Amino acid sequence: MDIKIESLIAEAKAVRAQAYAPYSKFAVGAALLGSSGRIYTGCNVENLSYGLTICAERSAVFTAVAAGEKAFVAIAIVADSKTPVSPCGACRQVLAEFGDSLQVCSANLQEQRYEATLRELLPRAQEGILGS
Ligand code: THU
Repeated sequence: MDIKIESLIAEAKAVRAQAYAPYSKFAVGAALLGSSGRIYTGCNVENLSYGLTICAERSAVFTAVAAGEKAFVAIAIVADSKTPVSPCGACRQVLAEFGDSLQVCSANLQEQRYEATLRELLPRAQEGILGS
């Protein structure tokens, strides 16, 4: 499938406006492209009990799974950071559950980008998953 990175970044930027980040003031948006061609979005939602915060990336994954999609092609992540924001370890692990060939594209508001596969960001994550 043709990876629509530009539209993924645009969707991640748009959903970033919905972020609930009163504690960090760091709003993040993510847009996940499913194998079906559908795009699922997510934003970070923080909590007074800081550890309960969910990142934009996991929010997008859970929305996709609830909609019936479990195979993904690419994810775009947008934040207002000096350099493109990189997914945290927990999000990498959750994304890896569904395949490590995922294309990850991080961008900031200055349009700087960083692209990598999930396998590069989290090597050997799939060993042990579903008996492999
Ligand atoms: N955050 C994300 O949503 N995604 C990332 O890739 C980096 C961090 C959120 C978690 C927290 O709400 C805020 O950004 C500051 O860490």
